[in-house]
Amino acid sequence: MHIILIILIFTLILIGAISYYIHIDMSIFVIAILIAISNAVLYMNYRLKKEVKEKFQAKERLKALNETLELRINHELKRREEQDKVLEQQAKMAAMGEMMDAVAHQWKQPLNAITLYESLLKSDFQDGIVDQEYINNFLDNTTMQINHMVNTLDEFRKFFRDNQNIEKVNIKRCIESLQRLIKDDFLKNHITIDVNVDNDIEVNIKENELKHLILNIVNNSKDAFNENDIKKRIIKITSTHIDKNQILIEFEDNAGGIPESIIDDIFKPNVTTKSADKGTGIGLYMSMQIANKNHGDLRVRNSEDGAIFSLLLPLA
Ligand SMILES: Nc1ncnc2c1ncn2[C@@H]1O[C@H](COP(=O)(O)OP(=O)(O)OP(=O)(O)O)[C@@H](O)[C@H]1O
Ligand SMILES: [Mg+2]
Repeated sequence: MHIILIILIFTLILIGAISYYIHIDMSIFVIAILIAISNAVLYMNYRLKKEVKEKFQAKERLKALNETLELRINHELKRREEQDKVLEQQAKMAAMGEMMDAVAHQWKQPLNAITLYESLLKSDFQDGIVDQEYINNFLDNTTMQINHMVNTLDEFRKFFRDNQNIEKVNIKRCIESLQRLIKDDFLKNHITIDVNVDNDIEVNIKENELKHLILNIVNNSKDAFNENDIKKRIIKITSTHIDKNQILIEFEDNAGGIPESIIDDIFKPNVTTKSADKGTGIGLYMSMQIANKNHGDLRVRNSEDGAIFSLLLPLA
């Protein structure tokens, strides 16, 4: 704008000076002024058009950028979703492997017992001591062992059944059901699980997801007990009412604690201190996902002789 005014004033002065010196007619002077003004207006018009065009182009560029940005964000979100699904699947497979181990332990003892009863039956028959009472006893004992195996298998199937719905789950009963699956494995590893949880705590969650979360925590304790060669092994599970809407479940072990070098990253994927055949580092990541998905939280701290995991969940 300033340049235009300067040009206009300069043109006027120039024309004025020329007409003064060469004494031309006043009408020519007026025409010259008009030409100068119209030039200035044309120039202004040109500048204005140029500015509008530039603004339009900038707007178009911004629009195109926004569109590709949206595309890029969608692409990234989809990629992460797929990554999470793969991790979830991996975690499930790992849990399945661990559970198969647990089931194998649970089955070993009753299978041994049944084999023993069978071999005794043959020799007792030859000794002539197999009567009605013997048969009844034999049936009671074998049925008990077979029931134990069937119960374990039922728990196992329940654990991996998909499409479970979110429902009111009683925390104590859920822990007891999980304990039925891992009892023999933990017994073999000399681990006592001391459960001090109120009878009536209920949360809205998919039951097998909660079991999965708890299994990840207690299995980590089991590994730490073995790695650190701890003699007296105890996992304490306790419940505390935070307020009328929230419950805190704490899992405390005396397995030596989490290494300080990883404690801040422990809930990130692929953080592990174990060899590839022992751990992938997604157990606690998945546990945190499950807690968050259910509007809860999972935290960790070390105590004097072990680790404490705190699971916060909204009450049903
Ligand atoms: N109770 C615990 N005591 C000591 N260290 C622990 C405990 N719980 C977890 N950790 C440490 O945290 C790491 C991460 O645990 P996380 O469960 O996520 O993975 P992982 O057990 O290594 O492998 P995964 O669970 O996938 O088989 C473990 O490797 C271990 O070093
Ligand atoms: Mg683990």
